[in-house]
Amino acid sequence: MQSREIREKFLKFFEERGHTKIPSASLIPEGDKSVLFTTAGMQPLVPYLMGNEHPQGKRLVNIQKCVRTQDIEEVGDNTHDTFFEMLGNWSLGDYFKEEAIKWSFELLTSKEEGFGLDPKRLYITVFEGDENAPRDEEAFEIWKKYMPENRIYFMGAKSNWWSMGEDGPCGPDTEMFYDVTGKLGDMTKEEYMVADERQEVVEVWNDVFMEYLKKGGKVVGKLSQKNVDTGAGLERLTMALQGKNNIFETDLFAPLMGVTSSRIAADHIRTSVFMIADGVTPSNTDRGYILRRLLRRAYVSDKNIDPIVDAVINHPSYQGLYTFAPNTKEIIHDELAKFEKALSAGLKQVEKGADPFTLFTSYGLPLEIIKEVVPNLDEEKFKEEMKKHQELSRQSSSQKFSN
Ligand code: ALA
Repeated sequence: MQSREIREKFLKFFEERGHTKIPSASLIPEGDKSVLFTTAGMQPLVPYLMGNEHPQGKRLVNIQKCVRTQDIEEVGDNTHDTFFEMLGNWSLGDYFKEEAIKWSFELLTSKEEGFGLDPKRLYITVFEGDENAPRDEEAFEIWKKYMPENRIYFMGAKSNWWSMGEDGPCGPDTEMFYDVTGKLGDMTKEEYMVADERQEVVEVWNDVFMEYLKKGGKVVGKLSQKNVDTGAGLERLTMALQGKNNIFETDLFAPLMGVTSSRIAADHIRTSVFMIADGVTPSNTDRGYILRRLLRRAYVSDKNIDPIVDAVINHPSYQGLYTFAPNTKEIIHDELAKFEKALSAGLKQVEKGADPFTLFTSYGLPLEIIKEVVPNLDEEKFKEEMKKHQELSRQSSSQKFSN
């Protein structure tokens, strides 16, 4: 099953169950200054999860473009990417756990209407409870209708409580994992946790039962309504459905991996092209700085960027669905030309004996890039220098304030 079909099946399944399809919002959040990028399908829906009436009703479904860069160091392993599409369905004070779980299970496993995944390869986690909310016995009881009890694990808030920051709607979640090796069988909770660590099981879907409110990092009570917020990462779901053990072998990455051997370059260029499509340009602050870092990291991994950009723009899975900026290549070329100049000037200085730390102070290159370009970099020394540098700039800025 190709990624296009996966998107279509997801939308159709929920449309047939009374959900209205809404378009993907921009990667640049509207009117929310607390986050740089749209990181989840629920993000543009926060006012409606809080109780405002949504013009399209109480049941919604969509495919949301997302960027998450907090796991940037993990990119290159089997499952992490910085851009992804999130398949999501929502109940805004309408249905709750019973239907959400039933539909997740049906869509994942039904051969007729769904994806036909093997239920014997599924594992479920539910919330074990803490001072904020009770153990989710309700979700557990519902899951038992579909899954053997020994493959449903109770987990703590670290993995099974979902919120998007310090303030806003939140709640316990139930997550669905798929055995990508096909060999795991029944597992104890400990064995399951090891399999998760080894990326032998991969999270394909997350149902959040959003009925709580967080303020200043603390759960302060219940919302006026009980919501369902779900998210399935298209890349990971595609990986499970295409029988791969990593996202880079799915049809979503295949055209990119056909023109580069670097997973980092493929991931970062794909993200950059989508960011540029939504109006981000490289700069030294905020979103522009994230884009700059992505482009630089990609370039250090593979200097031949153009074919990767083309592979994203002409990707069969994105045709007719996403529009890209006509000047994408120009923006990337300008940025990388500047970077190339700074990089070679800096490296020449280092070859002549300058401290590699000058690559940071004079050329603004971050450690992650310097590590790539200076073999045998003394990282400890570099970090020491960095500390001193930060201390100095702190002192000079506090002096500025006191004057
Ligand atoms: N908002 C939930 C997530 O991002 C569904 O996983």
